[in-house]
Amino acid sequence: MQQENRDGFSSRFGVVAAAAGSAIGLGNIWRFPYVLGENGGGAFFLLYMVFILFLGVPLMLTEMSIGRAGQRNTYGSFRKLAPKSKWYLIGIMGVVGAYMILSFYSAVAGWTLQYLYDAIANNFYGKDPQALDQMFGAFTSGSFMPVVWTLVFLFLTGLVVVAGVEKGIEKYTKILMPLLFLIIIVLDIRAITLDGASEGLKFLFYPDFSKLTSKVVLEALGQAFFSLSLGMGTIITYGSYIDKKEKLFSSAASVSLADTAIAVLAGVAIFPAVFAFGIEPDSGPGLVFITLPNVFQQMTGGYFFSILFFFLLVIAALTSSISLLEVIVAYFAEELNMSRVKATIIGFTSVGILGVMCALSFGPLKSVTIGKFTLFNLFDYLSSNILLPVGGMLIVFFAGWIWSRKSVAQEVLGEGKPETSLFKLFMFIIKFIAPFAIALVFLNAIGLLKF
Ligand code: PHE
Repeated sequence: MQQENRDGFSSRFGVVAAAAGSAIGLGNIWRFPYVLGENGGGAFFLLYMVFILFLGVPLMLTEMSIGRAGQRNTYGSFRKLAPKSKWYLIGIMGVVGAYMILSFYSAVAGWTLQYLYDAIANNFYGKDPQALDQMFGAFTSGSFMPVVWTLVFLFLTGLVVVAGVEKGIEKYTKILMPLLFLIIIVLDIRAITLDGASEGLKFLFYPDFSKLTSKVVLEALGQAFFSLSLGMGTIITYGSYIDKKEKLFSSAASVSLADTAIAVLAGVAIFPAVFAFGIEPDSGPGLVFITLPNVFQQMTGGYFFSILFFFLLVIAALTSSISLLEVIVAYFAEELNMSRVKATIIGFTSVGILGVMCALSFGPLKSVTIGKFTLFNLFDYLSSNILLPVGGMLIVFFAGWIWSRKSVAQEVLGEGKPETSLFKLFMFIIKFIAPFAIALVFLNAIGLLKF
């Protein structure tokens, strides 16, 4: 269990860029709109924002602090901060979560690779909304290309992870995330000027509280954590690479802000178009893939923009999947004493098998279900709505009640600095609000408590 040879990020922008790279991904552009569409729109949106602000930001700060204090992967960090206790189990949960998420994530990322190819080949051209719907269905129900693309994507992820933190992750995020931001704004402008766009904006922003059920509340919480990469140790692992001089408050706040902005902008690009083209908002995981090609066809330069968009989406997915694989690889390498290369190969192979099964969940394995879920749906649902909330709850509980207040202050504020009122508010939230609020949402949704 040595400390030497740990990589680190080289600059302040590097840390924020890499954590933002982890946070910003398919969660914002693919998952947020589809889950919002299935959960009734505006009321979900409002809750999502409340959860980001009051639970997400404090949890992000907590995870960064734990990682930086622990200087190891999640499992190792808890071992170090709370020796002779069972808190390291959070690290194991994180590895399990990373496996589940990365499996279905690679399958969806594989779809984006196919759509990048389709954009380049101009395959959307001249297709009406029905035809684009069929195109998506035909592709995802196949048994060959979805598998190939899933593995190609995972392979790319493995390559960056092998290269190590600074040379790999940081380099790619710095330039491309801001570019993604710009292109989504261009899409927004086109979407909100479509005929019938206002219906979509209303769906997204106007809260209809009659749609609010305990399931919607849990899904909003799960989506908030998923989008910010919280509750499973990704940000703890990245936190361990952050320089001691960094101010964690502002890092956590800027990452959360950037992530939320991208999700909102993606919603604004998608829902007006959903309504303008007569697509069902609750179409499920295909929503973005069916909607956006319609938008591209209505734009000057749509061909060019579609290529740029899917390219950037692939990159955004990659910077997130890297952070997921990193959780697995850092654990294998540091706790099971493997070389980084060996850890990555084992990670790639094992996730690859599950990823292929997720990719086939829309075709040959469609009828293989557990309860009412295909493997893809099961991993998607379980990770966001169970593992991340439970993980997040344990992490804030640990920081609020188990870890000493002095140690938290030392990480968040810096050595020997007096407590600020913002810090006091943060402590109050992680001690008295966050763990109980998460528990309530969770118990309410699984039916153990009823309001
Ligand atoms: N936050 C990432 C996204 O929005 C997904 C992710 C979840 C990454 C959990 C790491 C951990 O795409």
